[in-house]
Amino acid sequence: MLTHENYMARAIELAEQGRGSVSPNPMVGCVLVKDGEIIGEGFHQRFGEAHAEVMAFRNAIKDPLDCTVYVNLEPCNIDSKTPPCTKFLKDNGASEVYIANIDPNPDISGKGIEELNRMNIKTHLGILEKEAMDLNKGFYKWVKTGLPWVICKVAQSENRLMGIDNKSSIWITNDISKKHTHELRSRVDAILIGKNTAFVDNPSLTVRLASGKNPIRVIADTNRTLPQNLKIFNDGESESIILCSSKQFSDNQTSQCKFITVEEKDDMLYPKDILKKLANHGVTSVLVEGGPCILKSFFNEGLIDELYEYTAPGILDGDDMKNPIILDNSWNCINQEMLGDDKLVIYQKKEI
Ligand SMILES: NC(=O)c1ccc[n+]([C@@H]2O[C@H](COP(=O)([O-])OP(=O)(O)OC[C@H]3O[C@@H](n4cnc5c(N)ncnc54)[C@H](OP(=O)(O)O)[C@@H]3O)[C@@H](O)[C@H]2O)c1
Repeated sequence: MLTHENYMARAIELAEQGRGSVSPNPMVGCVLVKDGEIIGEGFHQRFGEAHAEVMAFRNAIKDPLDCTVYVNLEPCNIDSKTPPCTKFLKDNGASEVYIANIDPNPDISGKGIEELNRMNIKTHLGILEKEAMDLNKGFYKWVKTGLPWVICKVAQSENRLMGIDNKSSIWITNDISKKHTHELRSRVDAILIGKNTAFVDNPSLTVRLASGKNPIRVIADTNRTLPQNLKIFNDGESESIILCSSKQFSDNQTSQCKFITVEEKDDMLYPKDILKKLANHGVTSVLVEGGPCILKSFFNEGLIDELYEYTAPGILDGDDMKNPIILDNSWNCINQEMLGDDKLVIYQKKEI
């Protein structure tokens, strides 16, 4: 006999399939259960399209009248790009709804549940609440603070060096770590790097060693000095955004990239305004892939939520390239694993 947690876990698993296609909407999955059997499954597949509840009823293999619904996010009670899910559930015979999380959107927050109760549909809140929240942490932060969820990635040697100098491109970690990084890329809306990394490494910043959508590529280039022959300007693999100074430029667009202006602080782009501008562009999660200079400014401003530290065996020379992120006890280590000879440690800020 499956439990409420089992059905909700399945809803969360379904929701995950929308990753990369629904942002800035949340990932939502839905399961319909009748007489102990799953009779319908669905998930929100694309931004602006049918919600998970509608998809689950569309896919039902038996009459859903009097079914129990498991959905990881509170059903919406508002007319937006799609009609309200609360009315849809009533009209389609749902008798009871199990919900993992309240929708943080102030227009819905709690009102979806009230509306279901008003229509005599029983509701139960909080099944696998933490797991569901973790799935949509970018969306939650984006709605509540107007900023995206920030993950930083560092590849370093045993003595914490991220390279030998800031004019040379060297590969520090192994192929398993590289594949892992590509999976990480596939989980975020955007990747951000500093101008020097763009110039020295000429990276594609795409997802090639994992499946998933390429994130938006974002480069911090205060004075717009990057040469136009870089891969990000020419490969057409994903949208490219150049962040530049609002003192010198205005927002505009060419066939190669978008230019978005950001406030300056100390002659560089102000990290908090970088995040605000990305959030306005619909980015709910961003992976900062370096180099040390940009990582340092995000760390110093307290803007990092999560850190992925890949450490390869061996020692490098080059003190200017030291990993600038030194964590204190306001961080939790949430996972560690060996990736071949490399070690990956993941940290998350405690207050979150
Ligand atoms: N091991 C790793 O994980 C890793 C990852 C990435 C890169 N790297 C290596 O790192 C080296 C480059 O690193 P880097 O530290 O010199 O440069 P970086 O962080 O890639 O770029 C720094 C530049 O970005 C621009 N920028 C704009 N706003 C900024 C802000 N708020 N904070 C910081 N920078 C801002 C500045 O140039 P403007 O003022 O001209 O805009 C700044 O000089 C390369 O050798 C690369 O191979 C290593």
